[in-house]
Amino acid sequence: MMNRNWTPRSWRDRPLKHMPTDYPNPRALARVEEEMSRLPSLVSSEETLRLREALGRVAEGKALLLQGGDCAESFKEFSPENIRGTLRLLLQMAMALTFAGGRPVVRVGRIAGQFAKPRSSPVETRDGVTLPAYRGDNINGMAFTLAERTPDPERLLLAWRQCSDTMDIVRTFTREHPTDLEAIQRWGSAHPERQDPNLDPRHFYTSHEALLLNVEEAQTRLDPSTGGWFDASAHMLWIGERTRQLDGGHVEFMRGIQNPIGLKCGPTMEPDDLLRLMDVLNPEAIPGKLTLIGRFGADKIAERLPRLMAATRRDGRPVVWATDPMHGNTLQASNGYKTRPFDRILAEVRGFIQVASAEGVHPGGFHLEMTGQNVTECLGGSCEVTESDLPLRYHTHCDPRLNADQSLQLAFLVAEHLRVLPAPRAQAA
Ligand code: PEP
Ligand code: CO
Repeated sequence: MMNRNWTPRSWRDRPLKHMPTDYPNPRALARVEEEMSRLPSLVSSEETLRLREALGRVAEGKALLLQGGDCAESFKEFSPENIRGTLRLLLQMAMALTFAGGRPVVRVGRIAGQFAKPRSSPVETRDGVTLPAYRGDNINGMAFTLAERTPDPERLLLAWRQCSDTMDIVRTFTREHPTDLEAIQRWGSAHPERQDPNLDPRHFYTSHEALLLNVEEAQTRLDPSTGGWFDASAHMLWIGERTRQLDGGHVEFMRGIQNPIGLKCGPTMEPDDLLRLMDVLNPEAIPGKLTLIGRFGADKIAERLPRLMAATRRDGRPVVWATDPMHGNTLQASNGYKTRPFDRILAEVRGFIQVASAEGVHPGGFHLEMTGQNVTECLGGSCEVTESDLPLRYHTHCDPRLNADQSLQLAFLVAEHLRVLPAPRAQAA
């Protein structure tokens, strides 16, 4: 399998999960895919390789990864203020982690492409009426009508334009040298032993789940200077928990691109599954290529994570280990809202750091669903969001996000746990 020829479209011969198959006019879809293949690249291969190198530093234990943003971007929530709010929050969190962890933090947004969502059911029934499930604004609309829920390929182009505008906002934000960035730089130069000349604090990267392979294929280009294929829609892409089948289309597509990739690891993953996926996804053991993102649930992490970490440690190939404390900790509140208790999120992060220290693995990354807005989607936190607060500002188009207060609080609490990390110089490479 590993030596089988790869092309940007070889995923089409594999079993596929979570790809919409109900476009009423497949020819219109094909036209849009063709148009997308001629659109400009959103990111350059130089930037993408620079992120891969930075993640290689995380794999060595010399840096940390902070990855965060919306569960799903949407047309309605798009505004420069929202984006800048989330970017500013990520920088503030990164600062807390940098100080405590004694390492530079590589910052990656779930942004500028995070639209499509895998859904637990392809349909939704309300009051006896069954319609296709909402799959993200780039596929169909959220309103419960047949017209809105029918996939429309034009949405892919609208989403692409929003991604392009979002990229512009991200680039302007980081170029403007806001105070946060200057503070990180000043602090870094006062602590040369903790600074990493390879990691420029001004860099900010983008990522999303590579779910719609037709869209990823359309934006995948051969880079003439390296001879490799790059998905130019984001610096980093990840494979979701529901699409990580070894023989499936998603793993097939991802094995061929040069971008750093993430792999969600849920409670059913066994060490053998993981090692076989590592063989396929990173056969050359390139440092920074593969980030394993555990998402077990606070009640399962202590049982499920140690065997996976032990397996990668024994295996010896470089990986970044990260935690997503969001997706295993979702529950339904008594008033019907899908929510996540802050305490469970925190408990999973603590569990991650504890298991990593016990296994002698660097707790390298933190993957969060969060927003700079003052939403009421997750329960708890120091400003105590209660069940009856949930309806007040529940804006998410998919999963509940930490609000600005909860995100900062989490960063400071995690920072306390990171103080125990051995100094980077002492860490084995
Ligand atoms: C996500 O990250 O939004 C997601 C769907 O996660 P997972 O694949 O881990 O369930
Ligand atoms: Co989500």
